[in-house]
Amino acid sequence: MKEYIHKALPKQFETIIGNIQNVSYPARQGATSEVVFLHTDQGKYVCKRSSLPQYKTWLLEEAKAMKELNTDTSLPIPTFYDYMEEEDNSYLLMSMEEGVPLREALLAVKTNEEQVKLIQSFGEKLKKLHETSLPPEWEHQISWLDIQLKKAAYNLQHYEVDGNPQLLDSLLEQKPRAIPQTLIHGDCTIDNVLVVDNSVETFIDLSGVAYGDPRYDVALAIRSFIYDKSLLNAFYKGYTLLRLSKEEFDYFDGGLYEFF
Ligand SMILES: Nc1ncnc2c1ncn2[C@@H]1O[C@H](COP(=O)(O)OP(=O)(O)O)[C@@H](O)[C@H]1O
Ligand SMILES: [Mg+2]
Repeated sequence: MKEYIHKALPKQFETIIGNIQNVSYPARQGATSEVVFLHTDQGKYVCKRSSLPQYKTWLLEEAKAMKELNTDTSLPIPTFYDYMEEEDNSYLLMSMEEGVPLREALLAVKTNEEQVKLIQSFGEKLKKLHETSLPPEWEHQISWLDIQLKKAAYNLQHYEVDGNPQLLDSLLEQKPRAIPQTLIHGDCTIDNVLVVDNSVETFIDLSGVAYGDPRYDVALAIRSFIYDKSLLNAFYKGYTLLRLSKEEFDYFDGGLYEFF
């Protein structure tokens, strides 16, 4: 299977990346794709492949977002090289960035202080992303949350999701008070940021990038350490822009996220 991925790369990628010397794989694959690291005579590249219809749509969204953010911002994200659709699979070619996912980095460090430092840097990095200004065409008046609720209803009908009709109804009825929208990552878990030298440096997995509700990013960012006071405080020490109430956290993490 592993052999197959890099042997079946789109031909047009070869002219960009040069000769492949060897390939390797991330310690953990994501849920929507297969990623292969390509070590070539010209450098290191990542090919991300998705096969299911929903995930192919997301890969296209990721390609578009990466390309636009490369041009319009100086955010620390991979460089977009190419995108290609074939009959069964879609492929995204991008730069291979240094570092390991924050989840891995947290497991590798030995002390609580080191974990605290990592999480604080995560908060700081997310603050920078939320403060990144966007070209005017990104900033629209439509509520991101309303769009997500429509997508949630579509996903519930068409795909296998963890959410159910009752949960969707309660999300529609109990929308949190609106706050100003910002640039958001859209899937800001500890799997989707890379750590270099004990600090979160790079955002990856960009299909959810949007002008949207920053509370969604915060909820997904803190979901894996929500019950660890010292880590939670470290996150907010770095982030500083807002703090989620319990209701807001539940709305976005246990609620909306269940449909994606
Ligand atoms: N540009 C990149 N540079 C370095 N590692 C990457 C890059 N893109 C993906 N990875 C690795 O591959 C894993 C899966 O990629 P990701 O884009 O998160 O896929 P999924 O959408 O399936 O979660 C990441 O957790 C990371 O380890
Ligand atoms: Mg991921």
